[in-house]
Amino acid sequence: MNLDREKQLAAKEAVKFVKSGMTVGLGTGSTAAHMVKELGSMVQNGLEIVGVPSSENTKKLATEIGIPLTTLEETNAIDVYIDGADEFDPYMQLIKGGGGALLREKILTYNSDLVIIIADSQKEVKRLGDFKLPVETIPFATKKIERLLQKMGLQPKLRVKDGGNFVTDEGNFILDLNIGHVSNIQLLESNLKQIPGIVETGLFLDMADIIIIGKGETTITLKK
Ligand code: 5RP
Repeated sequence: MNLDREKQLAAKEAVKFVKSGMTVGLGTGSTAAHMVKELGSMVQNGLEIVGVPSSENTKKLATEIGIPLTTLEETNAIDVYIDGADEFDPYMQLIKGGGGALLREKILTYNSDLVIIIADSQKEVKRLGDFKLPVETIPFATKKIERLLQKMGLQPKLRVKDGGNFVTDEGNFILDLNIGHVSNIQLLESNLKQIPGIVETGLFLDMADIIIIGKGETTITLKK
């Protein structure tokens, strides 16, 4: 199974939704990078779009390949947002944030008219929770939150990079939680969001409109 090929096929299918004149939210990660590159070729062939990147990494990539960019403040509406995911279930609920961009990604998702998720076939699960759930925390509160989540049985692990704490584009930290196959994911989301200092979680509930999955040499599309 060639997962990178599946990511690319899903990305190729997703960009068919993009038309000239649109403002396009650009996700983050290896699958989203395929989509950004596809859009880059389309722009070179005359497609007129403006992109809103969800991370500094995506901003860099999009700039390098010539996609005109704007910011969330400057744009009235995002017509379509395309991004990857770490897990999705049959109800189109997602875990995102493996790449650490979940906060900006969730803000763009919330502010987009159409949300398309692209994924390789390995991201499909019966129940969310094998992937460790990323939560973004304010550095000032992170130690306290870590202790609290430990007591709640969620086995938080502070994300590290290059020998130091991983720092998000918004200057925050990430705790990766072992949520297991929790039965009430909505309740978990609201409980986590009530803790001061947790800025956002990687649970993207009822946010995806379309999921395009690369499977072998073909794609499968799920719609809400
Ligand atoms: C980044 C994300 C990514 O979409 C997610 O981690 C999937 O990444 P990849 O496409 O590299 O598998 O949420 O914050």
